[in-house]
Amino acid sequence: MKNLSVIILAAGEGTRMKSDTPKVLHKVSGAAMLERVLNAVSGLKPEKVCVVVGHGAQQVKKEFSDRNIIFVHQAKQLGSGHAVIQVRKVLSKYKGNILILCGDAPLIKQETLKDLLSFHIRQDIDATVLSAEIDNPFSYGRIVRQPSGQVSGIVEEKDAQPLQKRIKEVNSGIYCFKSQKLWNSLKKINNKNNKGEYYLTDTISILSCSGASIGAYKIKGFEEILGINSRIDLAKAEKLLNKRVVEKVMIEGVTVIDPENTYISPEAKIGRDTIIYPGTIIECDTEIGHSSIVGPNCLIRSSKIGSGCVIRTSFIYDSILHDNVKIGPFAHIRPGTVIKEDARIGNFTEVKKSIVGRGSKVSHLAYIGDTELGSDINIGAGAITCNYDGVNKHKTQIGDGSFVGSNVNLVAPVRIGKNVLIAAGSTITEDVPSGSLAIARSRQTVKPRKKRG
Ligand code: UD1
Ligand code: CA
Repeated sequence: MKNLSVIILAAGEGTRMKSDTPKVLHKVSGAAMLERVLNAVSGLKPEKVCVVVGHGAQQVKKEFSDRNIIFVHQAKQLGSGHAVIQVRKVLSKYKGNILILCGDAPLIKQETLKDLLSFHIRQDIDATVLSAEIDNPFSYGRIVRQPSGQVSGIVEEKDAQPLQKRIKEVNSGIYCFKSQKLWNSLKKINNKNNKGEYYLTDTISILSCSGASIGAYKIKGFEEILGINSRIDLAKAEKLLNKRVVEKVMIEGVTVIDPENTYISPEAKIGRDTIIYPGTIIECDTEIGHSSIVGPNCLIRSSKIGSGCVIRTSFIYDSILHDNVKIGPFAHIRPGTVIKEDARIGNFTEVKKSIVGRGSKVSHLAYIGDTELGSDINIGAGAITCNYDGVNKHKTQIGDGSFVGSNVNLVAPVRIGKNVLIAAGSTITEDVPSGSLAIARSRQTVKPRKKRG
């Protein structure tokens, strides 16, 4: 968008979080609060995005070093107005509109910001504040209006008169200013208030007194403007964002048995007619195809799951599952795993950085690590790959159609050919050629039992 630049305030300590992590790096639905705000803003295609950092600045900068952001340092956190003043040198020649947001209000939607901007531009307003009605307005700045309805200022909780405290229309902390009006009014703010801070909110009454036009763009519901000041607010935000995402996937044709107890990342994609059982958490950019069944109690992160899969009570990280794969219950699929069509990983089985070929079965109590399994292989209960010698990891390869008996140890590096049969209980240390039978265990002896006593 031309004539638009953005300032995000993110220098505050967030004292009430009681944390070593800067407040804006705390995560909501898997992404830092500041990332959620940046994502909402990026769709507006602003000319410049400035982020005011202070408390934990190094950490914040590092986290977002790959973004096209201008970081502005606020050495002492003297208030939101003081924070914006720090950006003046960066935007001094800039003549367009300036959208200001707080890094601690992560639920704002891109569409709402677009609506705010078109309201501000269409009506040619000097300063527009995004507001909402809240049943419990405690801790928010209140929007003060004249009897005519015209906005005349914003009063902070700590400075509000008893009557003003009853006002339910609150300041979201999101505003759009014509740049010159912003800089001129910021010259006049002071810290003579109960918090001893330079409030950004004072610009509204200053502009109002000077005859500038002030607008309030009031949105329905307060969810989008929830400001996170404590861990309790953080949990509220998590619930609200999750509700939004779960409802969206349900509208798109996914059955979620218990929306309250299912967590889906806003970045995830789920196909139609997939059913998600309670206690399931789907994180990051996980993709799930159509007509799959997931849960109860699964944790799936950054993975690609095909269609027609059934995943019961299992953990899956950074892996790819093709169509019609069955997993669990109680399986652990670790990063770098690919499981091809119709394969099955059963209970108490761990698979790490391995390929499991089409139609292969690892049904019970197995460990498969650094392994390439061909197709139609059966791995017996209790069979494991011994991939780690204490220093290095080694690979195991097993060809199509082979059968590995129960409790086999495959000591890597080792190659098993196609259609091999490995007898139960064998410890295999050497390669086995295709089509052969390998037995590597001591022969059973049976002796008469000595009589006791
Ligand atoms: C602020 C608003 C309040 C509004 C609420 C919405 C002011 C004075 N008040 O209150 O009207 O209802 O947000 O959530 O602005 N910050 C800095 N540097 C500072 C101080 C703050 O960068 O010196 C940043 C914070 O990191 C935060 C934002 O500004 O992202 C708001 O500051 P905060 O202290 O959380 O203000 P609130 O009391 O929540
Ligand atoms: Ca706040």
